[in-house]
Amino acid sequence: MKGKAKIFRFNPRIDKEPYYQSYEFRFEKGMTALDVLNQIYEEQDASLGYSYCCRNGHCGMCGVVINNKPVLLCKQAASPEMTIEPIKSVSVVKDLIIDREEYERKLPKLRLFLERQCGALKEPEPIDMGKFEKFKVASRCIECFCCVSVCTVIKSSPHTFKGPTAYALEARHYFDPRDEQNRGLMLKSEGIELCIQCNACSRVCPHNVDPAGLIRLMKADIKNTN
Ligand code: FES
Repeated sequence: MKGKAKIFRFNPRIDKEPYYQSYEFRFEKGMTALDVLNQIYEEQDASLGYSYCCRNGHCGMCGVVINNKPVLLCKQAASPEMTIEPIKSVSVVKDLIIDREEYERKLPKLRLFLERQCGALKEPEPIDMGKFEKFKVASRCIECFCCVSVCTVIKSSPHTFKGPTAYALEARHYFDPRDEQNRGLMLKSEGIELCIQCNACSRVCPHNVDPAGLIRLMKADIKNTN
């Protein structure tokens, strides 16, 4: 059976405007959207830009938008008719490849590392895993940017709101009982309060990180403690 994929194309170095290119592919049961792109790349068009690494839902490199829904290419079952676009609200490097560095430039102010005055009193440090529940949830984030793609706040305030991925990464440290940084004040100045709690990010997260829930918890905690 033949399938049809309409794919977003844009090479900012040579194209004035983005455009869509349609390809036919051999649709087989059980194939993923990544299999489709690999087939097109190998058999029809080696100029197609897309990214992936682990092929198993772990690296976060393959986030795209298929038929208006952000998904992981390697985990998304192919369908006979697909429109494939890059993640929204991040600049495109080429076709389906987004500029991860652009997003990473927003992160240093969030100090995404463990901060404390002294090191562990004992090595190995005894850890009460019961106190790390939210840390564990936040740590499931693979930075695929599916959440960023549906976030309306980052679209309207790209410079002041850091986006659900960034706040989920921050939550790892916020909810790390060893961390001593006053992350509440920092998060306030880094735009967390602009979140409108629409939950769109949590609905599309492929690893159930629930960025909106983590943001809600941090906002409530900041309100109570500052
Ligand atoms: S290729 Fe690694 S998450 Fe899809």
